[in-house]
Amino acid sequence: MLGSPVTMKTDSFFAPPRTIVLIGMMGAGKTSIGRRLAARLGVPFVDADAEIEEAAGSSIADIFERHGEEAFRDGERRVISRLLDGPINVMATGGGAFLDKNTRGLIMSRAISVWLRASLDTLAMRLERSRTPRPLLDKEADMRGALSRLIDERYPIYEESHIVVDTGDGPQEPVVDSVYNSLQSFINEENIRKNEQS
Ligand code: S3P
Repeated sequence: MLGSPVTMKTDSFFAPPRTIVLIGMMGAGKTSIGRRLAARLGVPFVDADAEIEEAAGSSIADIFERHGEEAFRDGERRVISRLLDGPINVMATGGGAFLDKNTRGLIMSRAISVWLRASLDTLAMRLERSRTPRPLLDKEADMRGALSRLIDERYPIYEESHIVVDTGDGPQEPVVDSVYNSLQSFINEENIRKNEQS
């Protein structure tokens, strides 16, 4: 039709230059969004928590119970560092990983970090429905209060990530679209900056 806008497919496949690390609170959807994003980018998906469990030969809940949070964070840092040494992938990390200064430094220097930001309401609703054990919340009588405290403590640090994408309680495909498009813009801008410097 004369005068109708020309539609162009703007989301053509692109190859990520380094690993994409998804960060954010428990219940933000890092694993499910991560799987879909990896499929779209044509790279493997890895779940840092699952890798920690495999390396330790026990569940995260058991690691917390038997060795405490500090030991868990040490293992988490080692596993994430090893995964960053491997092939380019999309990696979902546990909600506390990015808070550790060393882990954060590794992620910021060797990967592209994407914070999946969700509201307290969204997180509380998702976590109430979830059956995954969450050692930091499971013993809390007031789960919403504990979540709210974690949000206050963590969101200023998550803000340091390269990319922020909001996620709500709706379908996941639009969130994957947003992450994909934000990544494409981030990488384009990074390439422009690099070319200007050379
Ligand atoms: C944690 C989040 C969990 C897991 C551990 C600690 C956290 O992962 O790593 O229970 O500190 O927020 P998910 O964010 O995948 O639930």
